[in-house]
Amino acid sequence: MVKEKDFKKCDQAGFCRRNRAYADKAAAAGSTWAAPYSLHPDTISFKDGQLQAVILKSINDADTVRLPLTVSFLESGLARVTVDEEKRQNKDIVLRHDSIARKERYNAEELVIVGGTTLDKEAKVASQDTSSITVQYGPSSNFQALIKFSPFSVDFQRDGVTQVRFNEQGWMNMEHWRPKVEKKDGEADAADGEVSTGEDESTWWDESFGGNTDTKPKGPESVALDITFPGYDHVFGIPSHTGPLSLKETRGNADGHFSEPYRMYNADVFEYILDSPMTLYGSIPLMQAHKKDSAVAVFWLNAAETWVDITKSKAGKNPNSLGSEAETNTHTHWISESGLLDIFVFLGPTPKDITKAYGELTGTTAMPQEFSLGYHQCRWNYVSDDDVRDVSRKMDKHKIPYDVIWLDIEYTDEKKYFTTDKDMFGDLKGTGEVLDQTGRKLVVIIDPHIKNAGNYEVVDQLKEKNLAVRNKENSIFDGWCWPGSSHWIDSFNPKAIEWWKGLFKYANFKGTMENTFVWNDMNEPSVFNGPETTMPKDNLHHGDWEHRDVHNLMGITFHNATYQALLSRKPGELRRPFVLTRSFFAGSQRYGAMWTGDNQASWDHLGASVPMILSQGISGFPFAGADVGGFFGNPDKELQTRWYQAGAFYPFFRGHAHIDARRREPYLAGEPYTTIITAALRLRYSLLPAWYTAFFQAHRDGSPIVRPLLWTHPGDEAGLAIDDQFFLGETGLLVKPVVEEGKESADIYIPDDEVYYDYFTYDVLPTKKGKSLSVSAPLEKIPLLMRGGHVVPRRDRPRRSSGLMKYDDYTLVVTIAKDGTAEGELYVDDGDSFDYEKGQYIHRKFTLRDGVISSVDAEGRAAGSVKPGAWMKQMKDVSVDKIIIVGAPAAWDKEEVEVETEGKKKTVPVQYVKGKSGSYAIVGGLGVPIGADWAVRV
Ligand code: GLC
Repeated sequence: MVKEKDFKKCDQAGFCRRNRAYADKAAAAGSTWAAPYSLHPDTISFKDGQLQAVILKSINDADTVRLPLTVSFLESGLARVTVDEEKRQNKDIVLRHDSIARKERYNAEELVIVGGTTLDKEAKVASQDTSSITVQYGPSSNFQALIKFSPFSVDFQRDGVTQVRFNEQGWMNMEHWRPKVEKKDGEADAADGEVSTGEDESTWWDESFGGNTDTKPKGPESVALDITFPGYDHVFGIPSHTGPLSLKETRGNADGHFSEPYRMYNADVFEYILDSPMTLYGSIPLMQAHKKDSAVAVFWLNAAETWVDITKSKAGKNPNSLGSEAETNTHTHWISESGLLDIFVFLGPTPKDITKAYGELTGTTAMPQEFSLGYHQCRWNYVSDDDVRDVSRKMDKHKIPYDVIWLDIEYTDEKKYFTTDKDMFGDLKGTGEVLDQTGRKLVVIIDPHIKNAGNYEVVDQLKEKNLAVRNKENSIFDGWCWPGSSHWIDSFNPKAIEWWKGLFKYANFKGTMENTFVWNDMNEPSVFNGPETTMPKDNLHHGDWEHRDVHNLMGITFHNATYQALLSRKPGELRRPFVLTRSFFAGSQRYGAMWTGDNQASWDHLGASVPMILSQGISGFPFAGADVGGFFGNPDKELQTRWYQAGAFYPFFRGHAHIDARRREPYLAGEPYTTIITAALRLRYSLLPAWYTAFFQAHRDGSPIVRPLLWTHPGDEAGLAIDDQFFLGETGLLVKPVVEEGKESADIYIPDDEVYYDYFTYDVLPTKKGKSLSVSAPLEKIPLLMRGGHVVPRRDRPRRSSGLMKYDDYTLVVTIAKDGTAEGELYVDDGDSFDYEKGQYIHRKFTLRDGVISSVDAEGRAAGSVKPGAWMKQMKDVSVDKIIIVGAPAAWDKEEVEVETEGKKKTVPVQYVKGKSGSYAIVGGLGVPIGADWAVRV
């Protein structure tokens, strides 16, 4: 178990404790609470979609602190509220301990935001008086920001109804800079010129935890705000945490509440606990609130340690709502240690609006290497070249498909990255070549700690070029990680990224080749002897920013450095990188995949993986998975089998195990387990075209790859919090992994009136909207339904790897909806290069309407409008071989049907099967090119 005492609770983090106390004080004062922040009306200016003003914080009867406010209204329909501190903008402060750290408040925009910030010139002041100003904005000018001056608060309204409210409770707090006055004996701490506020000042100037002291050269500097979602019962997001998708209340000690706020402070929390608001390895400070037919969100752009309290209250009936029930208001309290107050507000109204706008802001999922959607075989460690080749051979012998085999830290020479253990991996390149024969890849681990050892060129260069993270004394930081004494690349430094790129050149990283890809671990960063297993907060990064200000960005900057390195391994070779990361922040989706870290081989960890992955999906980083089988411990065979069945529906699908865990490659499981696991893997492989299309959709508009009901059925209130079943992309495939021991059935919640079929038997199921359907699920069966109205592309020929399936023909599964129609998409490209950016892809839209199944270009591109490159030319010979029409009416009960393509007509045979609970038809031997227009007429 994780040592909980190694990680702070809110009352052990001074700024969290102070802000919770501040909130309690305000709450206790009730209506007499005088929130000290007021917007000074004379300072307001409004131009080109941006309001500027100064907020005054009164610190005593006479003195105020000036906090410049910017409210930006964006073309994307978002509003952004940024509050800074004038004295710090002007660098008009003095740091303690002769610190050379930056004086300004850190703005995380540069490393996180990639677009969507164009100002909305149409936004306009709708009204203004002595107490407030209202700005009208948004796509159809139906959004309003009502900014009240004193106390400062903002109501964000859609169609006249407040959806998000800032500072309703008056818990806004920006701890302004103040000089420390050394106290005389017996006197309480107080800042110069200030009357002691009665606040707890004990953690203003320095703070110790677990034997480490943080020197805090800037003193207290936290930013906090309460954000209310009136009328919203559920809030989601702020991954990564264990626990339910619908976030729990964190105060009040009631049953089912957490007593701690959700924490975001990326850390190496190995053997993490379940159902907990503790921090994990990565953070995305995007929170969404959902109620029937309405979704809104806030994105708290701050990279420092952050805590979020959540409480709910019953409100009276909202006069603007039609329901008669008392509504729930969800109150959240955001607390960050330092940095700007910088918040984006999304007014929806659909979950899709939120993911799309968030994708514009922070970027969408990179188009992946196609192989990375296959199965990854990993453990700590495959011990030698022979071992790797042997595992690969055995997978083939047992006809178990896989795409990638992984090397953990032991392949290196004494944990010196970019070297290999000569005795065990003397022929890494040869191993890579063997793997390449079957289209397989090798992933090797590269961590950010660089061994502080003699005779190691990488560390020599790091020191010589001064590219490492520095300690508070401005000399190289030394800490402890896998290799022992280590230094850390400062991946915030563009020069460090340039240097890092060089290390990955094939000529420099011996043994690697075109099919070698990379795994970045320990990038929170993990520092074994550091506070909370990470870096001291007073460490310094590029630009002299304190680690405190940028901590949660360390993971993304290192991930980015490796991504850039893989892009430039060889001049003229521009291929998509694949980099797995453990630590992440908003924006990490641009660089690769993540996994949920060191879980355990237990049923509850299997169960917990599902909401964790769903939460990643709705938070813009959907390329997510959990260690299949569980990292620590040894799963029994039933658990291992169920885990593979669930893993086959993780966007990132990798088996992994701790060095002390027994070997557990699927062929070792024995019968019937190996066969059942192989079937799950084959199911994954046959659905790869659907997965790839779902990734493309994620890349296009930020859609999740696996989708919870809150995203697919936002109008079904009862389904909003369901987090143990999900849809795969737009396919209508609805899966509910079995995550309990001995369980032989699954209750699947049905969110709509559509028809549902069993994936394997094509039976029509007796479903009812809003009710659960019990399906039988003996060990060999994955509870998997097909919703009517979709077309699912598959490749059914079993092969050893996805690479070998590249030019296989397709099968289309058409599931007929109640109204007799169906619709679906296929996106395919070379899966490796960036040629898709030049139109080198096939994107089809399939439709069934009036008895005609047709395929047209999904983007309306005319045939021949793109000059085909090598891959497109090869695809000319790839066909749709077979169409399975599930729920086919009697009209399909005939010998043959007509197919028309490229002006030619032919007939092909149909096989019609009339079942007791549903009929289906199989149209075979179609031979119509996948890239061409065609139609099948019944
Ligand atoms: C960390 C990773 C784990 C890896 C191990 C050794 O614990 O989370 O996946 O196997 O380090 O590199």
